[in-house]
Amino acid sequence: MRAVVLVGGFGTRLRPLTNHIPKPMLPIGHRPMIERLVNRLGRGGVTEVVLALGFKPEPFIAAFPNGRCGDVKLTYAVEPAPLDTGGAIKFAASEAGIDGTFVVANGDVLTDLDVAELVATHHRHKAEATLHLTGVDDPSAFGVVALGDGDRITDFVEKPAPGDEPSNLINAGTYVFEPSVLDRIPDNERVSIERSTFPLLAEAGRLYGHATKDYWIDAGRPDLYRAANLDLLDEERINVHCEAVSRTANVDAAAMILNSIIGDGAVVAPGARIVDSVLLPGAQVGSAATVEASLVMGRVGEGARIDASMVGVDGIVPDGAVVTASTVPEVSAS
Ligand code: GDD
Ligand code: MG
Repeated sequence: MRAVVLVGGFGTRLRPLTNHIPKPMLPIGHRPMIERLVNRLGRGGVTEVVLALGFKPEPFIAAFPNGRCGDVKLTYAVEPAPLDTGGAIKFAASEAGIDGTFVVANGDVLTDLDVAELVATHHRHKAEATLHLTGVDDPSAFGVVALGDGDRITDFVEKPAPGDEPSNLINAGTYVFEPSVLDRIPDNERVSIERSTFPLLAEAGRLYGHATKDYWIDAGRPDLYRAANLDLLDEERINVHCEAVSRTANVDAAAMILNSIIGDGAVVAPGARIVDSVLLPGAQVGSAATVEASLVMGRVGEGARIDASMVGVDGIVPDGAVVTASTVPEVSAS
């Protein structure tokens, strides 16, 4: 079975980390997010993934030069201009000549969902489209469904105003589609699958849900990207558990690392304290600096203190500086 994976967004919420690297190539537990996703799809029976790209395809091609990620074949569909989720699925599926039941996944979702079970549910209902659903406390930042009898989705609302959510069950970003879904999406136009296609499918009674309590996180926001990393330190997640400190990192014996991930080639000087944070590959933290609840790609100077902040690859926190709830360099609102 084939899958289309959406990786063409700009990763705006993770700037400046995504200034030079697309969101799905950012590491989660020392491995690119996309690699974890593709491996999971592979375990669920997917043999080929079409990466739907619109933005910076080069890093993906460089990371997977032989067109494979583990046992899964990788191909690329590069949109001439961003077509939004629905337009991108249509474009990628057409480029790849998909003509049977297929899987679709948002590129920033980390979950333990069994994809084979999602496919089985889809066939059992003879659905046109089946969505993985998960329950969350605050559904308004997501696509929210109303679920009727027999797992039929009776309403789909993308990012409803707080208080207007039909339930707390949200679209978890992994789908199974019949090719007929593509006929509902116009060619080469910007179309949101969530705002246009899902409501139509729900109205037609052809949209089903598969709710699970599996581990699930959308790593597209700083706090959640950090959580997706730190969750892998939990030894109970035996299948995905990762080491805190990469073997290629250089952490001084007189540094303190607490509930943090230290990425490949990162350097931590004596007396530095790293707490609840992720140092991305190549990050540098100077002596006696403190990094708390932060994501660092660049350099934190000696004796500097950063808290709840992001430092991009070009970011330099000067010696002794104090940075709280900010980004370095600053990111203009967009
Ligand atoms: N190729 C391509 N082209 N991909 C795109 C485009 C585009 O124009 N726009 C967005 N994407 C990709 C993003 O890279 C991401 O992998 C995926 O589509 C979803 O976009 P996000 O920007 O991450 O959306 P979201 O997190 O706000 O909401 C989506 O995910 C939620 C679950 O995490 C929606 O699908 C919600 O309904 C859902 O609840
Ligand atoms: Mg997202």
